[in-house]
Amino acid sequence: MKTYCVAFIGCGRIASLHAGGYKANPQCKVVALTDVKEEAATAFAAKHEFGDAVLYTDYKKMLRQAKPDIVSICLWTGLHAQVVKDCAAAGVQAIHCEKPMAASWKDALAMAKAARKAGVQLTFNHQRRKLPAFQAARTLVKEGAIGKLLRIESFNPMNILDWGTHVVDMTFKMNGDVPVTRVLGQIDVRQGGSWFGLPYEQSAIGWLTFANGVTAVIQSGEQKEMSLGFRLHGTEGDIEILDAEPHLRIRRKGRSTWQAVKVKGNLHDAGDVHMKAVMRDITDGLSKGRKLELSVDHALRATEVIYAWFESALQRQTVELPLKPTSTTYLTVATASGAKSR
Ligand SMILES: NC(=O)c1ccc[n+]([C@@H]2O[C@H](COP(=O)([O-])OP(=O)(O)OC[C@H]3O[C@@H](n4cnc5c(N)ncnc54)[C@H](O)[C@@H]3O)[C@@H](O)[C@H]2O)c1
Repeated sequence: MKTYCVAFIGCGRIASLHAGGYKANPQCKVVALTDVKEEAATAFAAKHEFGDAVLYTDYKKMLRQAKPDIVSICLWTGLHAQVVKDCAAAGVQAIHCEKPMAASWKDALAMAKAARKAGVQLTFNHQRRKLPAFQAARTLVKEGAIGKLLRIESFNPMNILDWGTHVVDMTFKMNGDVPVTRVLGQIDVRQGGSWFGLPYEQSAIGWLTFANGVTAVIQSGEQKEMSLGFRLHGTEGDIEILDAEPHLRIRRKGRSTWQAVKVKGNLHDAGDVHMKAVMRDITDGLSKGRKLELSVDHALRATEVIYAWFESALQRQTVELPLKPTSTTYLTVATASGAKSR
């Protein structure tokens, strides 16, 4: 069994989620930890018992000296593009980067291109795809439990770039990752804020049309019906995926009552199940050439919808995909709220 050397760039909060996945994967050995704050890397090494890992404050030096096979990038969004490009150029085999992809559609496309050119396996941490609630819901849809899927209603807790990337990504999953052809969106920028260094809007609503005719409406931010959740409407019934219990339920056509479906965990966490699956996919992708659910191709689809949503709000018209590689729309629209980056 081949063992892969793993390095971290960024040892903050979300890095701990990645750490759990690597620790559960016998093919992974964490060899390097990088953080501009030395104390963050030291504390991270102690917390996860990565005593053998070498600590760095400069990721370029780490790439040169540690020569890792796999790199987890756990940095704020605005840093993702450059660091992904540097890791690809340094010859790593796999990059697992935090979501959202990047602070512009142009940067997201550039990251994908750099990885393709260098032959690097690039994935993004849309880890919710691996949670049992979402997997069971997709299986029900796939097996025809609600007949033909017609319409999806999705509810996103807050901003569409950061949190919304999970919700858009999951909306894609529910419809079998069929491409979106058009996006109509509006956003409310009256009282935005700042999230991981980027400005965001207060509320938003987006209407997506998929190539198979399914439509989705996503309510986001403050003005919405529920916190996080999904309603899937089909010709033979409905499915709900809910933040509150039961996390998954189905109502078959002609029945007035919902039937709960038992799943492990909730819509955020399922013990070590989901991150274990994410890291197993990463090593399986390398050793078995398996196609990955968290691939850059899937991440690009969600990212394209998000930037098309901002573009639509700015242009006040429906945006047909593929989206042109315009780069400034998001910041133009979001900063109209007057939000300041922290
Ligand atoms: N997948 C998820 O569900 C999920 C959940 C929360 C956050 N996130 C994403 O994770 C990313 C990071 O969030 P976080 O909460 O871990 O942030 P954080 O602030 O806790 O951690 C970031 C770390 O990066 C370090 N850092 C900054 N610049 C660096 C550099 N150039 N080189 C090395 N280290 C550097 C900081 O010192 C800090 O320790 C964000 O993009 C966020 O959107 C994802």
